[in-house]
Amino acid sequence: MATTRTQVGIIGGGPAGLMLSHLLHLQGIDSVVLESRTRVEVEGTIRAGVLEQNTVDLMVDTGLGDRLKREGLEHHGIELRFGGRGHRIAFDELTDGRAVTVYPQHEVLKDLIERRLADGGDIRFGVSEARVHGHESDTPSITFVDSDGNEQKLDCALVAGCDGSRTETRKLIPESTVRTDHFRQYPFAWFGILAEAPPSSDELIYANHERGFALISTRTPDVQRHYLQVDPNDSVDNWSDDRIWDELHQRVDGEGAEIKDGKIFQKSILQFRSFVCEPMQHGNLFLAGDAAHTVPPTGAKGMNLAIADVFVLSKAMDHFFVNSDRKLLEAYTATVLPRIWRTQHFSWWMSSMLHRLPDESGFGHRRQLAELDMVTRSVAGRTLIAENYVGTPLIF
Ligand code: DHB
Repeated sequence: MATTRTQVGIIGGGPAGLMLSHLLHLQGIDSVVLESRTRVEVEGTIRAGVLEQNTVDLMVDTGLGDRLKREGLEHHGIELRFGGRGHRIAFDELTDGRAVTVYPQHEVLKDLIERRLADGGDIRFGVSEARVHGHESDTPSITFVDSDGNEQKLDCALVAGCDGSRTETRKLIPESTVRTDHFRQYPFAWFGILAEAPPSSDELIYANHERGFALISTRTPDVQRHYLQVDPNDSVDNWSDDRIWDELHQRVDGEGAEIKDGKIFQKSILQFRSFVCEPMQHGNLFLAGDAAHTVPPTGAKGMNLAIADVFVLSKAMDHFFVNSDRKLLEAYTATVLPRIWRTQHFSWWMSSMLHRLPDESGFGHRRQLAELDMVTRSVAGRTLIAENYVGTPLIF
């Protein structure tokens, strides 16, 4: 079995794993990333597309900003739409000039992969059977089968579990004796489309409507991304293009807004879950991103949260290698959890305020409208949304 030695073994080549590898490299620490998918699959998976100001700043500051600055669409506000009218949340004046940038997750991954490879980084795509051994000892290792079918071993000092929501590494933190999982399921899902169409709006629209929530987003001047609230058991086969556009028009059109139709070329259903596992460390294994937590999509926080985790983790790992001191490693969970729970709350709050609950009486919907009215009418309310939407500080 061929053996490679590295400082940090990273399982998962999504935003958390690749950004961790990049940040470690800038600190002079080497790592190997093991990813089960091929590079083409990683670079082609459609996910959310909104980067917080923190994520943009980190990318720019660490040399990943060229294409982002050229192709990303900076947004200085969003619209909350209810009662047939739009209510703008103006980030500039409410957050001291902070903004978000629409730049899809797979574009971030392309930039990270290109940069890691240009810097001589070691990313193994298409690996299978990755198993962590000895993570409670000082000499952990990972065995895996490479894309040619050869068994391989990676000896390392630290292991990062960045293998997403279908994680295997989380299971290495013993449940109940050490690990507690906090989970919430929602009674709705999103139907997402990509369409060749002109933008329907200059800014994202989050619409609360009696027929259910709708979100108007964008990708490029020619490609739009929209979502509709649907039942979690619904299927894409039930939705013809005409039905989708008709539903979007009904839920969004009105004073100051009119959806522009186009040719739909991608349809998918996204489930809604909130999840946090505590702690996020066991011995020399550290979880980051979706392996440790999932947020419902409203507010587009998932990737941003993963990047915030590895920002903290990379500094803790650096402190360990430079000073032979575990203090920051042992503080990792306690350092990242407050921000994770704040983000969980925001995603839950936006979801609860904007979606129609099945079996809900008229009371529930009127209560939501009153809440939206309260939040949008008050500067304090708008500030609360704006601060959380553009992103809270990376370290609380
Ligand atoms: C997008 C996704 C989100 O979850 C959101 O809140 C805003 C935008 C998007 O994919 O564009």
